[in-house]
Amino acid sequence: MEKDRYKAIPPFSLVPGDLPDFQIYMRTEEGKFVLWAVDGNKVSMEKLARLTEGGRKEIFISLEDEFKYDLHLEANLGKILENEQVPTDNKASIFTRVSTNVVKETFESSLGLGVMSPEALERTKNMVESALAFIAESKSLHALAKMIGHDYQTYEHATKVLWFTVAFLKMYPETLDQIETGHDEELDDTLRNDLLKQCGVGALLHDIGKALIAQEIINKNAPLTEVEWEIVKRHPLNSLAMLLEADLPLFVKQGMVYHHENFHGGGYPMGIAGESIPPLARLLRIIDVFEAMTSRRPYKDPMPPLKAAQIMIGTPENGNGDKASQPDDGNGTKPDQGGDGGEKEKDAAEDANQDDRDRGMRQCFDIDLLRKFIVFLGNVKLDS
Ligand SMILES: [Fe+2]
Repeated sequence: MEKDRYKAIPPFSLVPGDLPDFQIYMRTEEGKFVLWAVDGNKVSMEKLARLTEGGRKEIFISLEDEFKYDLHLEANLGKILENEQVPTDNKASIFTRVSTNVVKETFESSLGLGVMSPEALERTKNMVESALAFIAESKSLHALAKMIGHDYQTYEHATKVLWFTVAFLKMYPETLDQIETGHDEELDDTLRNDLLKQCGVGALLHDIGKALIAQEIINKNAPLTEVEWEIVKRHPLNSLAMLLEADLPLFVKQGMVYHHENFHGGGYPMGIAGESIPPLARLLRIIDVFEAMTSRRPYKDPMPPLKAAQIMIGTPENGNGDKASQPDDGNGTKPDQGGDGGEKEKDAAEDANQDDRDRGMRQCFDIDLLRKFIVFLGNVKLDS
């Protein structure tokens, strides 16, 4: 069948001026596929506008070019989301396609959890799509687009944090029930569903304030200077500033602002501790760190999930640790303060009592929540 050789794509997924080098087809009323553009790069904005003004909802690419299409979407996701001409449902489906690929790739390669089943993929798509629809409604799409255009790596990280957050809260409904109020109160399924979506939104937006930090700092392949580190530490408040007008629930905004607070104090931006840190922020603290440690970054290789969990809970596999087992709070290597990174830590390794790596990062986390997260990791079965 001729139609089996083509893939329908929304015309708005093409970004004039930055089009992929593949051929584009149209389907005639008789169902025949005709070449519309030999080279995507030669398509002008006017030509694309004429096409969509006529009410055409789909154009086609050869199935062989699907991989190039995905690369094109990845490279242009921020621009597509910012384009006001693109209808929200188009944005949601494009965003979902890219984000689902990000999650799929992570689980199948980096985390080595095996092939994602069609059902697990479908659930991921639904989760991402509903989070994006909510973001669009709450007037925070512009901020998200800005972050994606600025720093694709932060977007990938946020997408994975979204997946973990929603999957974890699905496994622990009693934790989900506490997210908004901070205390026990059994909720019905409709409320839980809404909460779950909103938590996904908080996860996706938690680092959005990094859009205001220079890329050279975010992607720096060396320890940050004191000044750079101070700039990085502003990102939770930047997030709040960017989303001040957005119609998001308070607990979502709190999750973003406090996701670097440590359960035993000493975090940022406010230095609050214990139960004063709202539950979503405590959960994001754990997932953010775990995702950062198990991901590839410009300055480090990915760490195996078990090793990351051991460091987080405070039981690294060897007493003195090594370079690869240094904690990472998701913001690169901190300045040399004898803390999580830097040369002084090598000296501290001489004294097991003073070595952060022997204590892991335990002091950062709500230990009950961390315990649940470790159990969750052991239970992640993507095809169940
Ligand atoms: Fe962060």
